[in-house]
Formats: sequence, C-alpha cells, structure tokens
Amino acid sequence: MPKTINVMFLAAEAEPFVKVGGLGDVSSALSSALRNLPADVRGDSNLDVRLVLPHHSVIKTDARPLAFYSIERGGKELTVQVSETSLNSMPVYLLGGEPISSVGSVYSSNAAVDAEKYAFFSLAALELPRALNWNVDVLHAHDWHTALAVYALLLKRWSGEMKGVASVLTLHNLPFMGADMTETLASYKIPVAQSDLPDWARAMPLPLGLFSADAVVAVSPTYAQEILTPIFGCGLEDFIHRHREVLHGIVNGIDATSFDPSTDKALPFQYTAENPAIREKNKTALQEKLGLPVDPVSPMLAMVGRMDRQKGVDLSLDVLRKLTDIPWQFVLLGTGDPALEEQARKLQTEYPGRVRVELRYDGALARQIYAGADMLLMPSRYEPCGLAQMIAMRYGCLPIVHVTGGLSDTVTDETGFRFKTASPRSLRTAVVKALTAYPDRARWRIMQQAAMRVDFSWDKSARQYFELYQKLLEKSV
Ligand code: GLC
Repeated sequence: MPKTINVMFLAAEAEPFVKVGGLGDVSSALSSALRNLPADVRGDSNLDVRLVLPHHSVIKTDARPLAFYSIERGGKELTVQVSETSLNSMPVYLLGGEPISSVGSVYSSNAAVDAEKYAFFSLAALELPRALNWNVDVLHAHDWHTALAVYALLLKRWSGEMKGVASVLTLHNLPFMGADMTETLASYKIPVAQSDLPDWARAMPLPLGLFSADAVVAVSPTYAQEILTPIFGCGLEDFIHRHREVLHGIVNGIDATSFDPSTDKALPFQYTAENPAIREKNKTALQEKLGLPVDPVSPMLAMVGRMDRQKGVDLSLDVLRKLTDIPWQFVLLGTGDPALEEQARKLQTEYPGRVRVELRYDGALARQIYAGADMLLMPSRYEPCGLAQMIAMRYGCLPIVHVTGGLSDTVTDETGFRFKTASPRSLRTAVVKALTAYPDRARWRIMQQAAMRVDFSWDKSARQYFELYQKLLEKSV
C-alpha cells in the first residue's frame, strides 16, 4: 500500500471553475474533502488528489501553461495543452485541445460534438500521468463524460501498462450514457472489447466505464439498489446485477461551511438551530424581495434548481394549481426545459398574489429561499442523490420528497415529508400534510431543529471513498 495515494480525479465540471449542475459541486467538494481527511482517519496514509478538467472555453482562470503532448486521432496528432491552476492548494490541471476549445458550452445539444469532446478529454487525461511524471494510483472518473478513461485504462492494463492503477467510476445519473462511439473509438484505434453489455450499449462510454471500473459508486445507497431494477436500470439492470460485487453506494455531502445559516453573508439575518425565530425575518425579507404579500402565517413552498422532468416540476405545478382552497405561497428559481418554464410562468400569471417564478440561476437568491421558505418541493421521479434537500434542511426549510434515491437516504419523517409514488395524487397528499402540520408552530420548530442538526458534511462520505481506495489498492498489490 503506497504511503501517499495519488488520485487523478476526472470530471467535466467543478466549482468554482465551471458548474452546470450537482456534479460541479460534488467534484470539487469531494476532492477537497479527501485531501483534508483528518489524520485519525487517514492513519499514516496521505491522499494527494488532483483535479483534471477540460479547459472549456467558458473557464476564465489565470492558469499557467505546464506541458504539451499529443495523442493520435485518425492518423493525425492532436495537441493536448496542460495548464495548471489550484483550488485551495489542490493542483488542478486543465486540458485543452481543438475538440474542447472548438465548443462554446460545457455540454452541447449535439451528441456527436460532445462525444468528440469528451472522448478526446478522457483519452488525453489517461496520458497525463506519463506527461507529468505523475505516479497515479487511482483514476477516479465521474459520469459518462470521463468514463472512457476507465475503459482505456483497462485496455492498457490488459496490455501490461499502468498495471497498478485502480479505477473508480462515480455514477451521478445513469440515464446519461453518452452517444454510441463506435466511429470515434475507431479513429483513436481503441478496440471495442468483448463484453457482456447489451449490444446497443457496447460502444457507449458510460456502459464501457461500468464494464471496466474496479469500483462503481452510485451517489446514494438507495440509488445503488434502484439501478438493479428495470424502472431505474435503463436497460442495464441485468448487466449491473451481474457485476454487483463492484457496486457501492455512497451518499454525497454538502459544503457545510459555505452553506451555514449562522454565517451566510447572502442572508439578511443569520441564525442557528437554537434561535429559529430569527429565521422568520428572512421569510419577511424574501416575501418583500419577491413582491409577494408579506404574511408570516402563509406557508411558503419553494423549488430550486434545474427545471427538468426528472425533478417533477410538472407534478408540483399541477398539484398547486388544484390546491387553491388552502393558503400557500410558492417561489420557483431555476432554468431548464422551455416547456416547463412556460408552464411555470403560466401559473404565475394565474396566481400573481401567490406565485413567483424566477427563471435564472442566482446563488444568493437560492440561499435566501432556503432561509426564508418553509418547505422545499422535491417530487423527483428519480434522484441519484440530490443536494437541494440537504441544503434546505440545514437552513430549516423542510423538504417534501418522493422516496427515491438520495432523497430516501437523507430525509426522514422527523426532518421532512415523504411520499411513495411520483404522482400528483401522492404529492398532493404530502403537500396537504405539510400545510396542515405547519400551523402547529411548536411541532414545526422541533422538525426544523432536527433537520438543521443533521450532519451532511463531506467527512463521512470522503472517509468511505478513502476506504474504498485502500481496499482496491490492497487488492492490486
Ligand atoms: C446529478 C443527479 C443528482 C446528484 C448530482 C450530484 O445531478 O441528478 O441527484 O445529486 O448529480 O451527484
């Protein structure tokens, strides 16, 4: 077992360089938490985790050029430019090159463009240790964008190279598997291996990563179980089931220092679990800011995040529209599917005194909503982990959740409201239950305090990843 475990952490996005969704929070927070594991957890091992990201054209940093090398594609040499920057003293390598710089956004709507971009990134990243003389022990990839690196590593190991390098693939969202890469792989002279994957999945990056990784980690224990079933397994359930000995479930954490209502500078009034009464002032401030009637007794519901069918935005809008005989206010903050945005706008037009829809990304407003709203709606159809419910709880905003994936693992009947089916009926019952519980202020306070006191910091999850690295490296010696 090496004294220092060197980890190459590959992701498409990481805060604060570039963030589109939860993956961006997780990749920077988890890599940092692993580097900062307390000595009593690490024992005499050290963890040197370094982040490797595509040098997306939207990334603005003062990264300094560090190295150049090339990889071969279609008989031509493609240059890889490595720049170095850092995140709280963690080295961060940005990999640039034509397939990356030629695309304007992190993810494009063109699957073929993304396939070229992320195949180049994954294969370039695999050559990085050699270019930098970096003795990597663990390659830790995330989602389909970087899964090809795990597969290409396996091919290298089969041919006797990089033999001691273990691989981990964290699965944040199974349905996003990447496009068929038969042609792209051929252009890089990467064979499609014989595998027990279904035919349609044989040359897709995520399935290839699942086939190759020494460990696959779903972002919650419940999601790890769910993907073994036809409903959540996206056609890969039998394959995953056959390989279930490599499957793990480790729930994500949140950045408990940044998301701390007692110090959060974005809030008009800071507060703790001991003095939730101060929280009420944030509700008033939020109602004022949003132009909603200032009314402390009217329960305020919220939704924050990506507007996607996955998140059940349509279910929330449907239920609220039919529930106008009870008082409530509703604020929605986020962007996404234009059809859902339109439906949300329509609800606001119908109920201007109750509904505010803010179709944008606004980190400060999100925090003010967690600190001022009473309940967070998360009727996700599936949710590998989910971060908003954890942040909401930390701020005393009680989540109403569909019992699935990470929502099931992080919300209890003491800290929120759970319902079993992602249907309007089931959601309606849970919303009515929450709205009728709300006037009992003493009971509500108890739930709020219980929610605020749950420890969602990264320490526990980082420790589990560390133990997994150790186990894999013990096996490979
Ligand atoms: C994806 C999943 C979400 C998870 C996040 C970070 O966005 O949909 O459930 O919290 O990744 O792992």
